Amino acid sequence: MSDTSTLAPEQKSMEELVSLCKRRGFVYPASEIYGGINGFWDYGPLGIALKNNIRDHWWKHMVDCPPIGPDGEPVSIVGLDSSIIQNPKTWEASGHVGGFSDPMVDCTESKKRYRADHVLCATAKAEKNGEVRELGFLAVLDGDQAPADFEKRASKLCKKTGGGEVLPVTHDDFAEFHTLPREQQLLVLGPDATQPGTLTEPREFNLMFETYVGAIRDDSAKAYLRPETAQGIFLNYKNVLDTMRVKMPFGIAQIGKSFRNEVTPRNFIFRSREFEQMEMEWFCSPEDSLKWYEFWKNERMKWWESLGINTDNLIFRDHDDDELAHYSNACVDVEYKYPFTAPGYGELEGVAHRGCFDLTQHQTHAKTKLEYFDQDLQVKLQKEGVDKDEIKKRTRYVPNVIEPASGLTRAVLVLLCEAFTPDESRPSKVYMKFKPKFAPIKAGIFPLVNKDGMPEIAQKLYMQLREKFTCQYDVKQSIGKRYARMDEAGTPYCFTIDGDTLNDNTVTVRDRDSQEQTRIPIDQVESFLAEKLSD
Ligand code: GAP
Repeated sequence: MSDTSTLAPEQKSMEELVSLCKRRGFVYPASEIYGGINGFWDYGPLGIALKNNIRDHWWKHMVDCPPIGPDGEPVSIVGLDSSIIQNPKTWEASGHVGGFSDPMVDCTESKKRYRADHVLCATAKAEKNGEVRELGFLAVLDGDQAPADFEKRASKLCKKTGGGEVLPVTHDDFAEFHTLPREQQLLVLGPDATQPGTLTEPREFNLMFETYVGAIRDDSAKAYLRPETAQGIFLNYKNVLDTMRVKMPFGIAQIGKSFRNEVTPRNFIFRSREFEQMEMEWFCSPEDSLKWYEFWKNERMKWWESLGINTDNLIFRDHDDDELAHYSNACVDVEYKYPFTAPGYGELEGVAHRGCFDLTQHQTHAKTKLEYFDQDLQVKLQKEGVDKDEIKKRTRYVPNVIEPASGLTRAVLVLLCEAFTPDESRPSKVYMKFKPKFAPIKAGIFPLVNKDGMPEIAQKLYMQLREKFTCQYDVKQSIGKRYARMDEAGTPYCFTIDGDTLNDNTVTVRDRDSQEQTRIPIDQVESFLAEKLSD
């Protein structure tokens, strides 16, 4: 049997994964019967089950059973579900109305629009009579598997500018389009263009979807679909403080939909226009904020590892100063090696030190005091003998915020990529190797044949197991075909009731990864599954 367990991301085909997702009911293109709608996806029966599993795991580790803090006590986090549409002043205060935009370039020839920082250029060179000449620049989009098409387009450019032999273009030559001087931008052959110089200079494009609240459609009725769940948390910070028995430091966690009119939605569900986020805002004193930043950075990496992701495929990437969002003092991304970024990595979660930016902004715009008086800190400083004025200064503050912000739908993509395992040796040619706990279906229950009392026993087992685990009962087609279907769904265990069950009350357990079959007593199936799914 071939060992497929260590397949590198670059060996996995996104095309095949997307096709499996459709075929097996994980993810469908939205509005497909009308030709789809770019940047929107629907989660099918297996997709929603997988998404719910990840969502519940996040909620459990953030809200119900949060991590143990540096002092040995569990940290305190409460949940929230705020409205998608808030007073539009929210987005003025947060900086999204003025600043939440991507610089974009338009192609005047193809009429396509690209994010400026995603258009990469390499110098195309040609050699004629021993003389090396620069032809101009060829543009591709970040993450494209470009060079085959690249060479073809370089040849075209070469013919137009005097012929010769095109020299190979390497990835090392790439630079971002918008960093080139303007005269050189005019020599760029855009990703979908035939003539050079068709890309415009980068322009700002606001990413928020607009709508109108009420019957009248004028500027006074304009509102926005939230581009992040975080602001709903800041708006409720005081409500939570006043109504729950929380004190600094504490967190508020929220999972929900966010909307961004992304310029270039792509790479399947990686960047979509409607997506789900899992965000937690951790409120703390300014003097402890760096300690908590480090704490959350490490906790979040542990959490991603707990999903069964190969640690080689996860890294931290600290943001450079010029990359930091307008609100952030420090930020680190947790990145994953997606098949379309490999050998590089792409963003999965950002852990940001937001300072007191958001609460201060809302305090000013809403004219509401959002300061906190830290009594615990006062007692501590008094014990340390700190001067009275100093204590006064340090104990009344606008809290600092550490924010671990991740995409739930992006986490679904990561688990799909991670699980996707081609295997020519099995009938399905591919299986989804989810960590059993996250598999959409935990067990298949099959009578070997649809007679001789086997369906009755299988039904009884199914009715018992479905109370505790997501199971599927299936009598149709050969047992081989049923196993193949479960392999594609990523079901870790299948239990088959056969002739021997009638004699000795044992069933066959088929293991998805090894394909090995063993027998266990039917009355031990429940405890077998409980143990396998416990981690
Ligand atoms: N509140 C901070 C914030 O929203 P962000 O880095 O813009 O920060 C956090 O978003 C996470 O949300 C990202 O790391 C990513 O996982 C997810 N995300 C952002 N935009 C997305 C999109 N267009 N499609 C899918 N997921 C997205």
